Amino acid sequence: MEDIEHIEKQMKLIRADGRRLDGRKPDELRPVRIEAGVLRRADGSAYIEWGGNKVLAAVYGPREAHPRHLQDPARALVQCRYNMAPFSVSDRKRPGPDRRSVEISKVISEAFSAVVFREQFPRTSVDIFIEVLQADAGTRCAGLTAASVALADAGVPMRDLVASCASGKIDGVVCLDLNKEEDNFGDADCPLAIVPRTGEIVLLQMDGHLTLDEFEKAMELSIGATHRLYEMQRDALRRRYSTTLEDILKEPPPLPAPPAPEFEPPPPPPEDDFGPEGI
Ligand code: CDP
Repeated sequence: MEDIEHIEKQMKLIRADGRRLDGRKPDELRPVRIEAGVLRRADGSAYIEWGGNKVLAAVYGPREAHPRHLQDPARALVQCRYNMAPFSVSDRKRPGPDRRSVEISKVISEAFSAVVFREQFPRTSVDIFIEVLQADAGTRCAGLTAASVALADAGVPMRDLVASCASGKIDGVVCLDLNKEEDNFGDADCPLAIVPRTGEIVLLQMDGHLTLDEFEKAMELSIGATHRLYEMQRDALRRRYSTTLEDILKEPPPLPAPPAPEFEPPPPPPEDDFGPEGI
């Protein structure tokens, strides 16, 4: 154990040129790509790649809450299940919920409870599923950011999107968006989620220690990043829903109408008992 602590203390996370081991500057975000509406069966969905993280979010509802005793007669419940796939981390993760995933699910559902217009949908539930396919630290922020796009894709009425990013401290330097090594061997990590239009904070956690000055610097970095992520979220939704004149022109021409049935003369009237001459 002492050996491990010794190794951890020896781990240099900031290079001599001031950059981090993955080449980023302290205030640099990992590359982020968001796509909306990736699943056909869910009401809304989104996929995010954020550095080494790959996370899928799916949303159902508002739909009748089950079991019924959970129903709130005044508003909708916002429920979240954050799950890590067994193959998402380097040591196989035991399938199923654990303390960490229960905690993350809880803080994410609380964050969205602050923005969804819950009073409009009494007795219902908005269900958010976050599946981490590949993890590289910052999965709760990636999951929240993707789930927010999935909620908008599902058409769930909300005050605004929620955008999330973490900052922390490594080798005594406050840095934005820690990766796995930085998270493991760093001094602190502080995830944040905000409602970008109002600046309201809907999630704030801290692992490790920061001085007040360091905390303020970390908040400044995270808030700046959430505004950039907000633009990416809106962009993903725009790509999914906007139709340009070019798209319309690209659409194939409508199929020709099926040919009208050929004219058939009506059958002759049946001959009656009096013969063709009649009476
Ligand atoms: O992912 P996030 O930073 O929101 O949460 P964390 O609890 O600080 O976890 C940091 C990272 O540790 C995760 O993103 C995973 O890469 C890794 N981890 C792991 O390898 N095995 C676990 N059972 C849990 C987390």
